Amino acid sequence: MSERTLSFVTLLKQNSDVLEILREQDIVLFCRNLRTGKISRSRFSALYRNNPLFWEVPQWSFSLSESDAAGVIDLLEEKRALIKGEINQLHLSVRESESLPPSFGGEYEEIQEMTLEQRSNHIVRAIEALDAALNEPRITAHQVASLMTDAAIYSTVINKVSIEEMAGEENLLAQRYLLQITAKTELLMSSFVEALSRNYNLNHTVEMIMEKTDGVTSRHMSRVFLLSIRFLDELRHEFEYAGLYQRLQSRMKSYMPLYEPLRERYPFTRFEPSTILPGPLRFNRKSIEANMLGILLHDLGKNRNLVYFDGGEGYDRDIIEKHAFDGFRMVREKTVYDQSIASVAGLHHEYYGHEQGYGVFRSTYGEYRKKFPDHSFDAVLTNEYNDIVSFKALAYFPAKVLEIVDVYDALIDRERRYKEPLSSGEALIFMRKNMIDRDLKLDPILFDQFIKFLQKAKLI
Ligand SMILES: [Fe+2]
Ligand SMILES: [Fe+2]
Repeated sequence: MSERTLSFVTLLKQNSDVLEILREQDIVLFCRNLRTGKISRSRFSALYRNNPLFWEVPQWSFSLSESDAAGVIDLLEEKRALIKGEINQLHLSVRESESLPPSFGGEYEEIQEMTLEQRSNHIVRAIEALDAALNEPRITAHQVASLMTDAAIYSTVINKVSIEEMAGEENLLAQRYLLQITAKTELLMSSFVEALSRNYNLNHTVEMIMEKTDGVTSRHMSRVFLLSIRFLDELRHEFEYAGLYQRLQSRMKSYMPLYEPLRERYPFTRFEPSTILPGPLRFNRKSIEANMLGILLHDLGKNRNLVYFDGGEGYDRDIIEKHAFDGFRMVREKTVYDQSIASVAGLHHEYYGHEQGYGVFRSTYGEYRKKFPDHSFDAVLTNEYNDIVSFKALAYFPAKVLEIVDVYDALIDRERRYKEPLSSGEALIFMRKNMIDRDLKLDPILFDQFIKFLQKAKLI
């Protein structure tokens, strides 16, 4: 660096006013951990909020992306009077944004370049390919799994890009194409239901996902989707054909102590075994497809420029929480998807009202309770969306299924940045200890069923 150049950190050190200007901007910093060499991204405003002197922490170096650096230079030019030193001699150290994969992978740009019609056709081709494969007697499980993986990744990103573009879009034709995309994504779920009914071995989809996309969030969303829909299918089978509800009745007394913390968090009309699960969960084709779709879109509210990981270097509680609300609003306000689908995104971190949870349910219930202070819940778990909207039941079945798979995926994720990934067994022990026994967050009955499912599928 020549003596006339100025690093980003030096700029901050010499000009406290610059901080005040930059914290108002939407700037993402590349944060290099000098000890580990690992790079993560964080919003300037979030780092500043956590520690106004964040850039002085010795083990980190901070730099701007090329595009943000250009914006910062323009901005500082405008505020020239406030800045010490010669602004036209300022050279910010920059990193190419390409040095980190975007959260939704290279597919995001690929799909951005497609017209809405091409995107809709892309999903149609995925449906046709999957349906054709299912009618082909010599098809292998590997081929079916590969088609399902492609369809999961692309349909997620197509929805993400297209719904984001629709913010403020008044064009009726564009709205019509978005309608087509949502209708085709719904149809795709029907092909997935069909594929699941054939019982192919889908245990290699994780490797396939890693090969097919480098987007950290798309990888997570596709893995969670493909594992959750198998688990959902197993649960449906257990309730419909294997008498799960009846079997649970005899064990319900032993489950009751695990649910006990709920009484302190929410009011109940009665708290007895039938409160947990008042009847067998009911499934029909429409509800199954809606459950699947909600899970497919669950992290749509995540910012494509950020890598999310709890407790990591870029951890910011406000940003983490925002994704559940943003995902809910995106699906609810910008699409014609059923409200129950949006709610899966909005409710997937509720953690049964635990203080570390967050989401749309608890915030709307807070408002509702102010109006109806004597309200109490009749049930804990339901698959009827109306029970959730009317606050008859506390937890929405697809969101509770998703919570389990979501946490499990995060713990065993091989790309886990802030800690070594856990083995499946370690993850299940961790979840049982910390998210059921010590602090009730996940559903104990569904968690036991999850372990049984993993065993049956030979995933543990
Ligand atoms: Fe999430
Ligand atoms: Fe997630």
